[in-house]
Amino acid sequence: MPLSQKIPTLRRMKNWKRYTITAALPYANGPKHIGHLAGAYLPADIYVRYLRAQKRDVVFVCGSDEHGTAITIQAIQENTTPRAIIDKYHVLVKDSFEKLGISFDIYHRTSEPIHHETSQEFFLDFYNKGLFKEVTSEQYFDEEKKVFLADRYIIGTCPNCGHDKAYGDQCEKCGKALSPSELINPRSTLSGNKPVLRETKHWYLPLNEYEPWLKRWLIRDHAKDWRQNVYGQSKSWIDAGLQPRAMTRDGDWGVKVPLPDAEGKVLYVWFDAPIGYISATKQWAKENNKSWELYWKDSDTRLIHFVGKDNIVFHCIIFPVMLHMHGDYIVPDNVPANEFLNLEGDKMSTSRKWSVEMHEYIEEFPNKADELRYVLCSIAPETKDSEFTWKDYQTRVNSELVAIFGNLVNRVMVLTDKYFDNQVPQAGECSDLKTFISAQRDKISDALEHFHFREALGEMLNVARHGNQMLSEKEPWKLIKTDKEATAVVLYDCLQIIANLGILCEPFLPFSSKKIFAMLNLDREHFSWQDAGKQNLLKPGHHLSKASLLYQKVEDEIIQKQIDKLQATKVEATEKEQKANVEQKADSSKTPETDLVAKAEITYDDFTKLDLRVGTILTAEKVEKADKLLKLSVDLGFETRTIVSGIAEHFKPEELIGLQVSVVSNLAPRKIRGIESKGMILLAEDNSGKLHFVSPKDLTAAGSIIR
Ligand code: MF3
Ligand code: ZN
Repeated sequence: MPLSQKIPTLRRMKNWKRYTITAALPYANGPKHIGHLAGAYLPADIYVRYLRAQKRDVVFVCGSDEHGTAITIQAIQENTTPRAIIDKYHVLVKDSFEKLGISFDIYHRTSEPIHHETSQEFFLDFYNKGLFKEVTSEQYFDEEKKVFLADRYIIGTCPNCGHDKAYGDQCEKCGKALSPSELINPRSTLSGNKPVLRETKHWYLPLNEYEPWLKRWLIRDHAKDWRQNVYGQSKSWIDAGLQPRAMTRDGDWGVKVPLPDAEGKVLYVWFDAPIGYISATKQWAKENNKSWELYWKDSDTRLIHFVGKDNIVFHCIIFPVMLHMHGDYIVPDNVPANEFLNLEGDKMSTSRKWSVEMHEYIEEFPNKADELRYVLCSIAPETKDSEFTWKDYQTRVNSELVAIFGNLVNRVMVLTDKYFDNQVPQAGECSDLKTFISAQRDKISDALEHFHFREALGEMLNVARHGNQMLSEKEPWKLIKTDKEATAVVLYDCLQIIANLGILCEPFLPFSSKKIFAMLNLDREHFSWQDAGKQNLLKPGHHLSKASLLYQKVEDEIIQKQIDKLQATKVEATEKEQKANVEQKADSSKTPETDLVAKAEITYDDFTKLDLRVGTILTAEKVEKADKLLKLSVDLGFETRTIVSGIAEHFKPEELIGLQVSVVSNLAPRKIRGIESKGMILLAEDNSGKLHFVSPKDLTAAGSIIR
């Protein structure tokens, strides 16, 4: 058996001594929305709560990412200071997480001295070992604002299409990738002045030199146990060849470069931010009398990074290389990155106001954190992009949380009060029930160990379903008239189910779990995960507390209000867009008659109907009983698509992973062998019938428009 197939089984058997769990440090320059929550923070929290319920040794760190050019520029634009911005949002975001039950052990800040020291220590370690490449280059500088300008803060006329507001890194009108020096008549977006070129020196991380190590680590060790999307994206970066990357920037906001000749230079934000995980751990260890080093340097520690898909390259390539270069550190064992969560048919975006911000939800839906956690976990974008809609939120809360979970708890509590004076009735253990619950517990554990959160949640709810079934089969409200002893048995069993649910729902629905334990008059601290199914948690004669409703039905008006609010922003945005398009369309509306050539001539307008995109193939597999077909999942940047392609006789599935291809992305969906195929991959066929992919020459962001 080849090594790559053997390793995952061995790894799974590893008995980890402790866990270091990180969730991406959010930029503290604005509020965070429920897409962020679903992408990284909620799954991380569920996993951590599950580990804690098992009494495993775990630290869960996060905090504000407070540096970076974006914050400096925002401060200039809003006429304030970076400090004022981060102080405001650090508190807002931290508070939102708390109210949604995200149970970080520490929510740190990258502006803290301990973080600056730790980042500088990393820099100096590399510097002293001679690992950096020093490169001097010319960069644009704004003489009035006294800052070097990152590419996108320079605008000018596009050399390709003449658009007069092209950015220094790309023209948004024609899509061409640019460098600032190509712009005609470049201007600073900050002052409007013409920027001047200045020489500047920076320190580069030679990522290319670590390719062999990355290949061994990623491709040999993690091809099978990482999510396909994460593995596929990382592999495509490595396969495309890595370039040295500057780890310093000109500026004064950030961690100072700790060298004598580096006045006015700071560490690149993606150099210092992930080190923030380490400094947060140090701070936590200090406050809790622990050794931080065990959590970062002991090979029995399992390091897991929870991030969204736009952070994959930093956590799967750059930061691991840094940890490896330093030498003493462990590298992540997994990076279970999620795809994106869309909102009512469109990409979520705070700046376009097409979003549900965490703090808004908390305000408008008081005491409904578990409802949001439940919905977001059940639609988590684990393998492909998914969609949040308010209608779906309402349906899931009403028909699952209220009708199944809440209803079970409420009925059983009320009946017990009525028939047995709110005491656990006398009955014996039911071995079938014990077996069922232990089996469910193991299914949930297994799903969580593999980061299948949706599946785990489903199995948890099945426990409640089981209780409801017992109630409707046995009908204790009828049974009581003829057989009190039999009624006692039903309610006893249902009460045990509820107590078990208190344990099993805790990672997902911590507030509900707390309420359940309070109603049952039990101390949650006395129970661990292993107790679920193992014993009868409630003893006969035990007094219960007062029942209260776990969840309330979400009414139509509340949902409509949210939908209206979103629609209002949409109308605003389209009006703006339409205005901008009017001029452009004015002279292109005439369609000339066409002559027949090889194919009928088409107009430019016909051509623009095609939505052609660069896609990255994430997975490929044979379609059963169809020799010619491969089923592919293709990352198009804004979403991941299933595309069935008739190329199985030409290519092996394995050789396609990570490959970039051209995709017709707006082709009407077709069912091929029962699989819905959305889009088409372009191939060139030569005279011999051999197929060749039409791929971009350089690695290009998935979803880039081809025109
Ligand atoms: N601030 C980054 C973002 O919001 C994430 C940083 S993650 C860390 O995309 F690794 F740098 F911490
Ligand atoms: Zn252009």
